[in-house]
Amino acid sequence: MRSPWLKRLSLFFGPRPPLNWLLLFLVSIIVLIALLGSSSSTAFHSVTPYVKPESYRKLKEQATSDYLELRTLSAGVNKLRDVGLCGKDRENYVPCYNVSANILAGFKDGEEFDRHCEVSNDQQHCLVRPPKDYKIPLNWPTGRDVIWSANVKISKDQFLSSGTMTKRLMLVEENQIAFHSEDGMDDVKDYSHLIADMIGLAGDNEFYQAGIRTVLDIGCGFGSFGSHLLALNIMAVCTASYELTGSQVQLALERGLPAIIGNFISRQLPFASLSYDMIHCAQCGIVWDKKDGLFLIEVDRLLKPGGYFVLTSPISGQHGSSSTLKKGSMATPIEELAQKMCWKLLAEQEETFIWQKTSDAQCYTSGHIDVPLCKGDNSQSYYQPLVNCLRVLPDDFSEDLEFWRSSLRDYWSLLSPLIFSDHPKRPGEEEPLLPYNMVRNVMDMNARYGGLNAALLEARKSAWVMNVVPVGADDTLPLILDRGFAGVYHDWCEPFPTYPRTYDLLHGSNLLSRLTEKGCSMVDLLFEMDRILRPEGWVILSDKVGQIEKARSITTQIRWEARVIDVENGSDQRLLVCQKPFTRK
Ligand SMILES: *[C@@H]1O[C@H](CO)[C@@H](O)[C@H](O)[C@H]1NC(C)=O
Ligand SMILES: *[C@@H]1O[C@H](CO)[C@@H](O)[C@H](O)[C@H]1NC(C)=O
Repeated sequence: MRSPWLKRLSLFFGPRPPLNWLLLFLVSIIVLIALLGSSSSTAFHSVTPYVKPESYRKLKEQATSDYLELRTLSAGVNKLRDVGLCGKDRENYVPCYNVSANILAGFKDGEEFDRHCEVSNDQQHCLVRPPKDYKIPLNWPTGRDVIWSANVKISKDQFLSSGTMTKRLMLVEENQIAFHSEDGMDDVKDYSHLIADMIGLAGDNEFYQAGIRTVLDIGCGFGSFGSHLLALNIMAVCTASYELTGSQVQLALERGLPAIIGNFISRQLPFASLSYDMIHCAQCGIVWDKKDGLFLIEVDRLLKPGGYFVLTSPISGQHGSSSTLKKGSMATPIEELAQKMCWKLLAEQEETFIWQKTSDAQCYTSGHIDVPLCKGDNSQSYYQPLVNCLRVLPDDFSEDLEFWRSSLRDYWSLLSPLIFSDHPKRPGEEEPLLPYNMVRNVMDMNARYGGLNAALLEARKSAWVMNVVPVGADDTLPLILDRGFAGVYHDWCEPFPTYPRTYDLLHGSNLLSRLTEKGCSMVDLLFEMDRILRPEGWVILSDKVGQIEKARSITTQIRWEARVIDVENGSDQRLLVCQKPFTRK
């Protein structure tokens, strides 16, 4: 069944519109805007009485800068066909994490490992290419247990020498890395049962009923604990620092497990306060009592009232005596701080400690707490029902899901190379059903309430969604996380903290308009999307016709297959469906 907005489907623009034509088109627009902007004649004002001259000027400036960007790009492409490809050293390139550049810029005391986009933003555009023996990842769920070793940057020694519990589960076979589920997973199952037992549950299958739906796994090894939790219907998101090789985040995403680069160095993680039911660290390398316990305070910020902090760390302590947890001794710095924040040590067993954050608001007012409460919204929103801060109207919310249900049906049927053929397929018709596991790692770049995520789950697709709430958009992230989905804040004027080739589908609804309003570069954005997209991965952008046509012209430069689809009769909304090629010639 087709939804009305796709009824009149029309496809225009061949795969490669002539550049000159495009430039001419852009120049005409600029000239037109320039005329409108500079003219004060009443004639113009009577024709277009709705936009103020300042807005024209802004539009004009934006159009000019975008035109210059495009011209530079196309000049390069005309001169040398391969000019757009990055060197081999950029195969696993993550912008903003250039440690030597950060040191040169004066960052020290660990902050050189932090994200500094301002230091490395002078790069010329190039397309990150896959490693030589790269292969398309296997579909879910096979791809969860077996990955191609050439796809990730890791050395044999790296994990053979590594002693952590999760890393031991990996075994290399010729060109694959297998995560043995039969024998190896027993370790993880036992561990998970141990945690359940310590919390007072009969087994880990009771996590969900006990209200544990979202888990932040810090330093997730290669994601096996998270993978086990996902099977229990729990959204486990891995976060770890940027690593040059053997990256935990890269491995987890390669397996189709939710993950994002994040540091405990000097800034908050990009998640809303009070968003996780459990935060887990098994030998995650963080010295928790450093910086007067700032990292533990960040954990407190992220935990929901009543949430759990699970710390597995050898008693002997690897990070010097100050971080050692001594059994039975309340004098350790971590334990002292936990008490100051009103956390309760629920249990300690073997090398695992579990604290529970208080759900007693009194604890914060009765003078028990010895950490200053944040001023302003943060402290105001403590223990307030999340929904009160969002002002979401129930109607708004259900309409949102209804809209995404029908959009998903249309999108799903568009995810076929046939869409680019001379006789493009129309949504939902005449084609065999596309497999449910067609895509696994999905990013909704402007997620609002997470409606696309909800629709995917409802339609039983095997995807998970990284729901991104752009900085400056309505703050819907608490709601998204409260629905048990994965989500982050992100400023799309900057690169996204992930490795190349980590997503199968990028979706952006009205993202381009938002970006233009902010005055950010669409060219930068599309190059960044190309970086994080797997070869043969998909892009669906929905926006106003002007934005879509501009994006369409850039896709020619980055050599994506692309189609513009007129979604609704009489509307200026368009859909841009693209596929990144495996290899570019
Ligand atoms: C990192 O920064 C250094 C110093 O600025 C520069 O020479 C190098 O090319 C950068 N590396 C990458 C991968 O951008
Ligand atoms: C499109 O809309 C116009 C007016 O809004 C209408 O006259 C026309 O019949 C519509 N066409 C189709 C195919 O629905």
